[in-house]
Amino acid sequence: MADTPVVVLASGHGSNLQALIEARDAGTLPIAIRAVLSNRADAFALTRAAQAGIAPRVIDERSFGEARRFSHAVADALDEFAPALVVLAGFMRILHADCVARYAGRMINLHPSLLPRHPGLHTHRRVLEAGDREHGASVHFVTPELDAGPLIIQRRVAVTVDDTVASLAEKVHALEHRILPTAVGWFAAGRLSLVAGRVRLDGRRSPAQGLAPVAAPRDTAGHTL
Ligand code: GRF
Repeated sequence: MADTPVVVLASGHGSNLQALIEARDAGTLPIAIRAVLSNRADAFALTRAAQAGIAPRVIDERSFGEARRFSHAVADALDEFAPALVVLAGFMRILHADCVARYAGRMINLHPSLLPRHPGLHTHRRVLEAGDREHGASVHFVTPELDAGPLIIQRRVAVTVDDTVASLAEKVHALEHRILPTAVGWFAAGRLSLVAGRVRLDGRRSPAQGLAPVAAPRDTAGHTL
């Protein structure tokens, strides 16, 4: 079977893009990454793409006055590469509903929280401020409402008393690097779809995978915190 054509959208460091590239190179992810698009010319994700022989493309948000025009330019660029799947991996711009509709059921997003908890920005800080006992990462289909599309997979991790924004970011990144290739692999294998607004995995209605609770955090004496 031919590799599934994928385009990745990324705004920053691109470690999740790298996880996809490495899974592809290891032969565990049958995808062809046709392009990496970014709204920022200085995104390190573009360097990673070029190093991996993938076409980098900048759609500079500053050259579009209106958010809708930027989204149209993104959608047009996507169409050029004819992806079966669009992966938002740390893409920090909200796409207009027109663009999202064009790729309905074929666009997934990675988010650093246990959605529906903490949509939007600064999730690690908000987890600490809220005193949450657990945190995690989610992959979901993209819908026009920010970070609110149907969940595909989540993984959770305990928040401990000594956690900081930096330590949570590290923990969550480790989860993301596993769940994003998993979700993309399901799609590439034809196992994952969106039917009437609901996620189907292997033809069955699927609650988000991987929601087993983590053990409650404990102190060094073994007491639950
Ligand atoms: C990830 O935590 C992603 O969930 C968030 O931005 C971060 C991107 O990390 N939206 P990277 O650029 O893939 O390293």
